[in-house]
Amino acid sequence: MKGLILSGGKGTRLRPITHTGAKQLVPLANKPIIFYVIEDLVAAGIDEIGIVVGDTGEQIRQAVGDGSRWGVRFTFVEQSRPGGLAHAVKESRPFLGDDRFILCLADNVTQGGVNDLVREFRDGTMNCSIVLTEVKDPSAFGVAVLEGDRVVRLVEKPRESISNLALVGIYLFDGTVWPAIEALKPSFRGELEITDAIQYLVQHGHDVRPHIHRGWWLDTGKKDDVIEANRILLDLIDPKIEGDIDDASSITGRVAIGAGARIIRSVIRGPAAIGERAHIENAYIGPFSSVSEDCQIVNAEIEHSIVMRGSRIVGIEGRIESSLIGRNAEIAVAPSLPQAHRFTLGDHSRVELRG
Ligand code: DAU
Repeated sequence: MKGLILSGGKGTRLRPITHTGAKQLVPLANKPIIFYVIEDLVAAGIDEIGIVVGDTGEQIRQAVGDGSRWGVRFTFVEQSRPGGLAHAVKESRPFLGDDRFILCLADNVTQGGVNDLVREFRDGTMNCSIVLTEVKDPSAFGVAVLEGDRVVRLVEKPRESISNLALVGIYLFDGTVWPAIEALKPSFRGELEITDAIQYLVQHGHDVRPHIHRGWWLDTGKKDDVIEANRILLDLIDPKIEGDIDDASSITGRVAIGAGARIIRSVIRGPAAIGERAHIENAYIGPFSSVSEDCQIVNAEIEHSIVMRGSRIVGIEGRIESSLIGRNAEIAVAPSLPQAHRFTLGDHSRVELRG
């Protein structure tokens, strides 16, 4: 069985981070989101993995390499335009051939991985398996209506509440999906929807099995989702200290500190992850914080936040919390009078100052 990971698309909901970077590379507990998806497929024994990329393809390729670090082989598929999930699958046909395959979204992480699903589908005769989970606001997802354990209807981004079972971005297909994709027309958002392809399978009497997922599911579409996903994954990190910590610092709880990091006169309360070569001085890094490689946090306090690679936070009064700070960003005190707030913010940035 093959695996296909979708890592193209636009990422508009995570702006401004996605103006310059792929949303699938935003780090959770200091590891890019797409790595979790790759690791789940590898753990399920999938060793031929296709990765669909779009405009940010070069960054994705550089980050994930050729698959050898996981002992598998990647085939990159350049999607001609962000035409929807089913469009991405359609353009991957040369890679997938007529094999059964598992399709995953590179910005979703699911508790427990996909081992059981893959085993059951590989050995089974069903045409399609979908993973569903209960959500409070189904309007942001594709949803499925069940009768008993039969799927009877699927709708993408439903306007009326017909079901609270959302499609988690994990799907398994056999060759019956190809005629279904061929028959698709663009949806209201101008995309070829994989949800509509599955609806076609249901209508044509194919065997579509639902799996209800009961653990956590992290769909990292928006900032608050990313911070929450980071919180959950930090709770699972392997504590390890590879950097240097001076005697005046205190480290408590589940903490990972990368090689070459320096912790000076600081307090780090886990769960937290500090990346390689980070410089933390006279600072407080509170629970549920990830500070990526080459960051500097000096005379500052941060909690429940993600600071991406190469950023500097220096001399800030008051704690920074629930924040997502992009790569090479800088938060510092004005060097000269007047002591005003001064900003250089990218498009779609958001700043909330203390009142
Ligand atoms: O997150 C689960 C939801 O994912 C499902 O409930 C929906 O049924 C499904 O349509 C999808 O909805 P989204 O609107 O959230 O999909 P999004 O545009 O975020 O794309 C998901 C992933 O697929 C993301 O990593 C980008 C990639 N992608 C997306 C498009 C539109 C591609 O590779 N190519 C594309 O053309």
